[in-house]
Amino acid sequence: MLDTTKILHNTSDIAVETGKIIRDFYYGEITISTKSSHHDLVTNADQAAESHIIQRLKELYPEHNILCEESAIDLTINPEVPTWIVDPLDGTTNFSHKIPHFSVSIGLYLQNQGLVAVVYDPMRNELYTASDQEITKLNGKPISVSQTKDLDKAVLATGFPYDRNSPEWTTTQDRLTKLHKITRGIRRFGSAALDLAYVAAGRYDGFFEYSLKPWDIAAGKLLVLQAGGSIKETTNPIFIQADNNKLNWAQN
Ligand code: IPD
Ligand code: CA
Ligand code: CA
Repeated sequence: MLDTTKILHNTSDIAVETGKIIRDFYYGEITISTKSSHHDLVTNADQAAESHIIQRLKELYPEHNILCEESAIDLTINPEVPTWIVDPLDGTTNFSHKIPHFSVSIGLYLQNQGLVAVVYDPMRNELYTASDQEITKLNGKPISVSQTKDLDKAVLATGFPYDRNSPEWTTTQDRLTKLHKITRGIRRFGSAALDLAYVAAGRYDGFFEYSLKPWDIAAGKLLVLQAGGSIKETTNPIFIQADNNKLNWAQN
């Protein structure tokens, strides 16, 4: 049996330490390279943040597996081994342009269940935490999803796939157009982990996005669930929708 309360405490420390590393790069020198396309960026801060998290997790939990964005070779997870799913810096495009909205996202999974989740926004010093034993908290205070039922009173969030030629990109634009006419507004802030944390905090009533990777959403999903929200996912196409468990999306 894993002591998830203790693990959550350690994970929070690691996320805050990593946030400090990222903040130092933000106010210092950022070097940017591209990955799969010219839209897909990685910086010296992503790499330093990832090295720090891996080093700390290996010290504390040598028997666990780790799936980290920048060093991931394959995405296969053995569900029988506790596995850390980590995005060291979620929101790299914002970070690269000195837009202060990005996060550290660390989740622990076993048998496809989230056990521990931490998302940290180092620029606002907002630490979102949850475990299988604990409800979602923001800086130690319990939070919960919103009460909004009707789309015309809702604020939603989304994101756009990196591949501008994919069918998922077109589907996102179509849905955005439809939903934008009905809702109070739709945000695209550029950190999926924080989008999910904001659903957990009741700031957004719902969120949807195509083509995200496991590390973008592993921690955020548990934050939403432990705050009373719900998650809908499909694998083909890769899609996630999170909401407050009350929102009526109807045919939208
Ligand atoms: C990205 C962010 C963004 C989402 C992208 C992700 P990254 O993560 O979560 O909100 O729309 O699809 O890839 O690349 O900044 O870690
Ligand atoms: Ca990400
Ligand atoms: Ca990232």
